[in-house]
Amino acid sequence: MTNRENFGSRLGAILAAAGSAVGLGNIWRFPIETGRNGGAAFILVYIGCILIVGLPIMISEFLIGRHTQANTARAYQMLAPGTAWKWVGRLGVFTAFFIMCYYCVVSGWTMHYGFLALTNGLAGHDASTFPAQFLDFVQNPYLPIVWMAVFVLLSHVVIMRGVTRGIERWSKILMPLLFILVLLLVVVSVIQPGGSEGLAFLLRPDFSKVTGSTVLSAMGQAFYSLSLAMGCLCTYASYFNRQTDLARTAVQVSAIDTMVAIMAGFIIFPAAAAANYSLSPSDIGPSLIFITLPNVFLQAFGAYPLLFYIVSSAFYVLIILAALTSMISMHEVVTSYLTEEFGFKRSRAALLETIVCIFFGCFASLSFGPLNGVRLFDKTIFDLIDWSASNICLPIGGFFISIFAGWRLDRQLFRDEVSNFGASRARYFRPMVFLLRYVVPLGILGVLLNQVGLF
Ligand code: PFF
Repeated sequence: MTNRENFGSRLGAILAAAGSAVGLGNIWRFPIETGRNGGAAFILVYIGCILIVGLPIMISEFLIGRHTQANTARAYQMLAPGTAWKWVGRLGVFTAFFIMCYYCVVSGWTMHYGFLALTNGLAGHDASTFPAQFLDFVQNPYLPIVWMAVFVLLSHVVIMRGVTRGIERWSKILMPLLFILVLLLVVVSVIQPGGSEGLAFLLRPDFSKVTGSTVLSAMGQAFYSLSLAMGCLCTYASYFNRQTDLARTAVQVSAIDTMVAIMAGFIIFPAAAAANYSLSPSDIGPSLIFITLPNVFLQAFGAYPLLFYIVSSAFYVLIILAALTSMISMHEVVTSYLTEEFGFKRSRAALLETIVCIFFGCFASLSFGPLNGVRLFDKTIFDLIDWSASNICLPIGGFFISIFAGWRLDRQLFRDEVSNFGASRARYFRPMVFLLRYVVPLGILGVLLNQVGLF
């Protein structure tokens, strides 16, 4: 492993990790979960999950990556040579690749809708035609595949340029742009007449809706949103330098991720309230961004065509940026694995991965059209990948990471890394180890058993 690159700056490291975390999970999935689970009450439970489960696992992944300076598969092998722990790292690589294969499909849809919004292709439609417009598109055998391939190629180009000149530089450009767009959309949405009702829904907790399954959903969402247990943060941390404070970086990344998610709620709920539109559970799924939201924006801003154009274009550009930085992080997990484990040149590794991802992505994409009838356990290919990656691979990975960090990892090594070899006092060390040993694994076991319907 010669000439391994590092992130050149602290800011670059934080923005790259935040870029991985902030994605479709924040802007699309989080508002839906919030809407279904009691608004502010869900947000409070979610923040609890981030603090109790998310942060300890993120710090562990950072530590494992930074200490070994290796791709995620090799990292576990180096820390526990000759044991089966290497499979935890390999599972991370597999999960990242698995998620890529369907993430690129939805991301391709956002590119198509971004293109439509920018070329005024959403104008002239209304509530009665948005569903058909979306269905025509996803059922088309070619167009979604073309957009999916364009999206994968965009992330390919960034990956090809390497860690510092590719991932770090582009994170520094795309993430601030994303923050500006989020802020702009929040302001436009909140000042809508009637928007304050949507805001009140988000700020007034309804604890009567909080049940066991709310906590489980919040934990699942925290895993997905923070990019935990898929090797991404471990791989990015392998490019951190020795001065990076792991816990502080984890807190900053989690705070950015949570803020963007909450602000996505501040965009969607006030706009929906202003449009007198109640987001019902049936709006869940891909249709939220592609059918419901264009309609919400139309109802809220339709009287001012220029405003509708600006808001809808800004919204889709925002999602594309968020999805792209997440895709780049998944791409890097597999690229670094192929480069370091099989001796591929970076360009070859990236190209191979891009081709294979587009190949599997085609099946995921076609499962909305010609391959819709191909089902396993009553799920289409897309649903099967989505379900098994997020509900099975992520909790299993998270469970073993917490056991590894809590029980297997050398205690002194752990303390040295989180304190940057004594530079900070790391007072949270003992409570964190307690969480990793007992609370996190039991919590995840609850999620896992719930997902497979045993609980
Ligand atoms: N955390 C990303 C999101 O919230 O959309 C999703 C994601 C990133 C999934 C990286 C998987 C991954 F490897």
